[in-house]
Amino acid sequence: MTSVQPNADSIRDLFDRIAPVYDDLNQSLSLGLHRVWKQMAVRWSGAQPGMTCLDLCCGSGDLALLLARQVGPQGQVTGADFAVAQLAIARQRAAQQRLRQIDWIEADALALPFETAQFEAATMGYGLRNLTDIPQGLTELCRVLKPGATAAVLDFHQPQQVWIQQFQQWYLQAVVVPAAERCGLTEEYAYIGPSVERFPNGSEQVALAQQVGFANAVHYPLLGGMMGVLVATK
Ligand SMILES: C[S@@+](CC[C@H](N)C(=O)[O-])C[C@H]1O[C@@H](n2cnc3c(N)ncnc32)[C@H](O)[C@@H]1O
Repeated sequence: MTSVQPNADSIRDLFDRIAPVYDDLNQSLSLGLHRVWKQMAVRWSGAQPGMTCLDLCCGSGDLALLLARQVGPQGQVTGADFAVAQLAIARQRAAQQRLRQIDWIEADALALPFETAQFEAATMGYGLRNLTDIPQGLTELCRVLKPGATAAVLDFHQPQQVWIQQFQQWYLQAVVVPAAERCGLTEEYAYIGPSVERFPNGSEQVALAQQVGFANAVHYPLLGGMMGVLVATK
């Protein structure tokens, strides 16, 4: 396991490579629970019918699709990611589900091609941890939100209790990596453990959110603290 932080190009290539298996692996490795956490994130984002929303680091589109259902046909959702293979799958899924109110945009989360104060709610699922500059990602997220709008940022989290921490490490090593290995993607999934170790904990995320301009921020731990949602309002 390496603790060297990958650069943006290698992160983008990695997500392009895993795109074909990403959804199935996610579903089986989380026993389907990631869908529940994503629904919670959409709820915590405060998205309502008719709103204009952003799903940052949208990947294959899970959260953007949920947001689109939440805002309805009068609303508008933008799914943004820099991995084109993930966006291609997201586009396909939206077409299959006849959700026309989503724009899929190739974009770098660290330099978003959106106007300031454009969105009324935002989600980000398992994206913040992968950014090479987390404060800059939060700065951009805050910039594109309207005053009073909320972002719900779902990600892995390092649990405080030692036995849960050990369980998480065991799970990543003994379940996630071998499952990825069966798909020929060992290296691609081995990055998760070190990335969780590097990732700011809940109170550090709250402090960062406040530093970049969010007026309120709370971090809600999920699953014994192995996951968490940062809910930040501008
Ligand atoms: C683990 S996936 C999560 C995808 C999706 N949000 C989900 O919850 O299933 C992380 C995503 O973040 C994207 N990503 C990482 N760094 C990025 C950046 N700087 N700009 C845009 N997207 C980025 C990757 O391409 C990848 O699709």
